[in-house]
Formats: sequence, structure tokens, C-alpha cells
Amino acid sequence: MSVQINKLHPHFAVEVVGLDASRPDPALCAQVQAIMDTHAVAVLRDQTLDDEQQIAFSRCFGELEVRPAVRTQVTERIDNPRVRHNEIFDVSNLDQAGRVLPPDDDRRSYALGNQLWHTDSSFRQLSATWSLLSARIVSPVGADTEFADTRAAYDALPEAMRARIDGLVAEHSIWHSRARRGGYQPSAEELRARPPARHRLVRTHPGSGRKALYIAMHASHIIGWPDDEGRDLLDELIDFATRPEFVYAHKWRLGDLVIWDNRCTMHRATPFDDLGLVRDMRRTTVREAVSA
Ligand code: OGA
Ligand code: MN
Repeated sequence: MSVQINKLHPHFAVEVVGLDASRPDPALCAQVQAIMDTHAVAVLRDQTLDDEQQIAFSRCFGELEVRPAVRTQVTERIDNPRVRHNEIFDVSNLDQAGRVLPPDDDRRSYALGNQLWHTDSSFRQLSATWSLLSARIVSPVGADTEFADTRAAYDALPEAMRARIDGLVAEHSIWHSRARRGGYQPSAEELRARPPARHRLVRTHPGSGRKALYIAMHASHIIGWPDDEGRDLLDELIDFATRPEFVYAHKWRLGDLVIWDNRCTMHRATPFDDLGLVRDMRRTTVREAVSA
């Protein structure tokens, strides 16, 4: 079957029809790599993947992140019979038995942090290259995932701003974004297990050679700057990069496998009736080989 690539947005993001990710081979992986280097977000339609197949396909593109080994409120999912592999991040609104999480559940407040603009794992020193999110059960309404193109945003910045941010470094922490949305309170053990990381605000995207903003709600401040000034600059850049002209909103279809490059995009979840409807999404995350 021939592969069709259809643009979803003027700057980035394509739909790919006619690929089968359940049977990866070097030619298929090279094709996906080329699509991603150019377009940064790829929606692979009509994939029927189980967790093993998702892991096998994702491994074509590097080492995978595993769920943190610290056992606490959120990582209780380590023993999750629904999701047995540590390479699979459970992005559903379900508990281990497949029941919808109740309103006061910690896992629910933790998940609300995904509704802030972010890049996955920017709070790790070896941060993520790609994330691959597989739609196993979709919500019939709401729950779009929005993506912002931070290469196009960088290109559109005024020259004075580009000069201002050149060389700046931000500190990123998972607990910063969790405090801002959802109010999740980490334990001392969680704080120790997931310390902050530092990354340059402007990085060159290896696949395209283009510069991209590396910003996110995990970024709390700029190194060497007063906290409030750093925060203001980060907010200004996030507001700029998420203007409508840089954003693609993805409406999920069953069987979509959406791949995004965290190094040159941001994304966020949008609300849905998570107490009434079921949404089962599973993410694999490819780790950088060396810190950028
Ligand atoms: C993620 C994420 C958004 C969504 O899995 O990293 O941010 O819409 N997901 O579920
Ligand atoms: Mn995410």
C-alpha cells in the first residue's frame, strides 16, 4: 500500500496513512524518521498496536524512558495489571481495574498538569526526543491534544528577542508544573527521586538544523536571573509560541498513533468529562542519547 502524507497545518504536523507500525523494519523506521525531522508531529492513522508492539516500534528511534522506580502515590501504577511494561506511561483516566478515577484521586490531580503547555521530560537532564501516544479508547468529545511549533515561533521572534534569549539557561522541574495545575503534593521521596534539570532556551533541532525554543511549564526560572523576571520572560515566550498560527489541535480517532518531537514542539491536553467518559492512551518516550 502506498503511503500518503497530508499536511495538517501550514508550519508542521502531517497525517500519515498507509504505514503499519506493528511490523517495523529499517526502511519503515527511516521513513518515519525523515517525516519527523521535517514535520515534527506525525499522526499515523489506523494502527492497531498492543503494548509490546508499541514498545518495539518506539525502540527503532532510541532508548525508551521507564517509569520512575520510586513507589508512591502516582507511581503505584508500577504494579498496574492494565499496563505491565515500565516503558508504557499510562495516560488514561483509569485505575488498575479499569475504573474511572474518582475526583479526589492523586493520579487525577497529577494528570491535570498535562493541561499546561509542556515538553515531555524537560525536567530530566537526559530529556525526551520523541513521544509516541497511542489511542486505545478515545473520548467522543473533548480531550484534543494541542501542539505548538517552536521552530516556527523562533523564526518569527523579533530580532531583539532572539538576541536577548541567546545563551540563556532555564531550570525545569516536574514539581513546578504540578504545583501550578492540579495542586499535586510530592512526597520527600518523590522530590529526591526527580530533581530539576537545566537546558538552554534555544537549541538547534538535530533533524532539521533549525533553531527551536525549548520552553515549557516545567521551566521555573532562568539561571542567574531574579525568579520573577525569568518567569515573566518564560511566560512571554510561551504565550508567543502558542499563538493560534503556531498551534495544531489534534482530534483523536481510534487507532491514531501520534508522534511528536519534544525538542521543537510543545503540547498540552485539553479538558474532557474525565469523571464520566473513558479515555485510554498509552505513551512511549524516547530518551536523548546525550544531553543537548
Ligand atoms: C502526554 C500528554 C496529552 C494528552 O502523554 O505526554 O501530555 O492529551 N498527553 O493526553
Ligand atoms: Mn506530555
